[in-house]
Amino acid sequence: MGQLDGQIALITGAARGIGQAIALELAARGADIAVCDVQVEWLEETLAKVRAAGRRAEGYATDVSDAAQVEAAVDRVKSDFGRIDILVNNAGITRDTFISRMSEEDWDKVLDINLKGTFLFSKAVGKIMMRQKGGSMVNIASIIGLIGNAGQCNYAASKAGVIALTKSVAKELASRNVRANAVAPGFIRTKMTEQLPEKIRDQMLAQIPSGRFGEPEDVARVVAFLAGPDAGYVNGQVLSICGGMVTA
Ligand SMILES: NC(=O)c1ccc[n+]([C@@H]2O[C@H](COP(=O)([O-])OP(=O)(O)OC[C@H]3O[C@@H](n4cnc5c(N)ncnc54)[C@H](O)[C@@H]3O)[C@@H](O)[C@H]2O)c1
Repeated sequence: MGQLDGQIALITGAARGIGQAIALELAARGADIAVCDVQVEWLEETLAKVRAAGRRAEGYATDVSDAAQVEAAVDRVKSDFGRIDILVNNAGITRDTFISRMSEEDWDKVLDINLKGTFLFSKAVGKIMMRQKGGSMVNIASIIGLIGNAGQCNYAASKAGVIALTKSVAKELASRNVRANAVAPGFIRTKMTEQLPEKIRDQMLAQIPSGRFGEPEDVARVVAFLAGPDAGYVNGQVLSICGGMVTA
């Protein structure tokens, strides 16, 4: 018996990286999986891996920053699966540069996908969870949203926004038995962090007390814990997953 047997989980940005690892971890614990990603052809890998683990998996082409697409995707997931018990807002991007050089477009794009996307999915799925009188949301923030970072003012603002949104949603929906928590990963080895120059990666590694970068599975296991019944009395919290890099 898996801890999440019979539960339906919707994960955004699950075509690869941390989102894919979350889909596989939730499936391993017994959940059926709906995955939304803008890169629909990449989704096939996640779908195949979830199905190989014996769970149902369906993919939905969705740009999380587009309200009409989000509403349509959530409607389809609800009609395909009947309910939504877990929402993981994971889709996110970076457009790094110093503030003096940052274009308005780079600012808007990152805020639209990372923060507005989380708002749109939380709103649409939140309505379903309220009617069900139960559900759990886990939002993927970042330690950068806690401490800031030179060259990432758009990303840091978006993730700080995700944290504030999470705390507010937790307070609004708690009486309907819906929880919302966030995780703040540190440096996790994915395609997103592969883009960084080696020099920056070496500098980051020197700041990690555990002496290693995180793996997507390090994040996925914590997300599964927060999503599931063992965290039933945990609401509105932010848990860092960063090898001890940020401790406050
Ligand atoms: N990798 C890290 O070190 C790290 C650290 C902290 C937080 N995070 C966060 O974790 C999440 C996943 O990051 P990752 O490293 O796996 O990145 P990734 O680039 O490997 O994966 C991101 C996924 O989101 C999807 N996506 C992008 N824009 C989208 C959109 N508009 N609509 C729907 N899907 C979209 C991409 O297609 C991709 O599948 C992000 O929110 C990121 O900010 C990552």
